[in-house]
Amino acid sequence: MKTSLAIPVQTTTSSRLSQTDFSNLVFGKTISDHMFVADYKNGEWTDLRIEPYAPLVLSPANATLHYGQSIFEGLKAYRNDQDEVLVFRADANWARMNESAERMCMPFLPKEIFMEGLVQLVELDKGWVPSAKGSSLYIRPFMFAMDNYIGVKPSDTYRFIIFTCPVGNYYSKPVSVKVETEFTRATEGGTGAAKTAGNYAASLYPALKAQKAGYDQLLWTDGKSHSKIEESGTMNVMFKINGTLITAPINSGTILKGITRNSVLQLAKDWGHPVEERFLTVGELEKALVDGTLEEAFGTGTAATIAHIERINVNGKDFILPSKNADAFSNKVLAELDGIKYGTITDPHNWIIKI
Ligand code: COI
Repeated sequence: MKTSLAIPVQTTTSSRLSQTDFSNLVFGKTISDHMFVADYKNGEWTDLRIEPYAPLVLSPANATLHYGQSIFEGLKAYRNDQDEVLVFRADANWARMNESAERMCMPFLPKEIFMEGLVQLVELDKGWVPSAKGSSLYIRPFMFAMDNYIGVKPSDTYRFIIFTCPVGNYYSKPVSVKVETEFTRATEGGTGAAKTAGNYAASLYPALKAQKAGYDQLLWTDGKSHSKIEESGTMNVMFKINGTLITAPINSGTILKGITRNSVLQLAKDWGHPVEERFLTVGELEKALVDGTLEEAFGTGTAATIAHIERINVNGKDFILPSKNADAFSNKVLAELDGIKYGTITDPHNWIIKI
């Protein structure tokens, strides 16, 4: 992509690239050499720069540490057989970040800063984009409060950073999930739709309980009645029942507006596949599991991509799902998304930018 914003670059004098074992990437543990940084003060974004990835110096009174005014995004860059680097749907991440920013009383981030910072950073650290099948460069843009003040109010100053990590699969095998009917991830009027740190912090305790009981993740239900399926830990969730794809709608304010979710729904609509954006009730899920009409269940997310669900616990009872067959919808949609991401098929919705 052609870039036009002049961003000063300080390159590292000690690249870690040659010591990195790309054959053994654990999600989120390996971080590339550089980061893009911008500061918000006096009502504007300023001091844009690319510098070596390094620890931050923060005051103990930094407002983020106390009150969690922090939002983030996740997207990926892929290296294809022609050695091109392709980034998937960055503009959708930019748009969602600003929706999160509005909910969390944080400043609007102009598209030019997000896109140019991202493209110039990925260009500089292109050598970190892995080439093995299933691997990619995970890109983590995030924004957080920078005021050193422990009164409760929106901060006046912020920092925006993008760093990147070469990653393998988030889930290396099909996942087991448990329908959660005690704890709540999000309620109407809350922050469930925002990609903000506190939502993830609040999920840790119930998720850990589920993991101790042998499940990978929870299937969250609505906070009022615990009777409607919302989403899963780090992913939106989709069910195929009697040929129809069903997933929770995004207008309740409790569901993260997943970009993979949106991409899967768009492809399903392109193919004329029946889709219902509505809440599936726990009762309907249980019935479909009992009578065998639940054909597929899978999570969708940037990190998780398409994660096949193999076991669901509903009201204390485990159900094993049919094993994934070659013509499963989730296989077809994963292959189509991979084709677009690696540039082996046409990109009908202009989702890709070439670095
Ligand atoms: C992503 O899929 O990008 C996410 O944000 C999940 C993350 C919390 C690992």
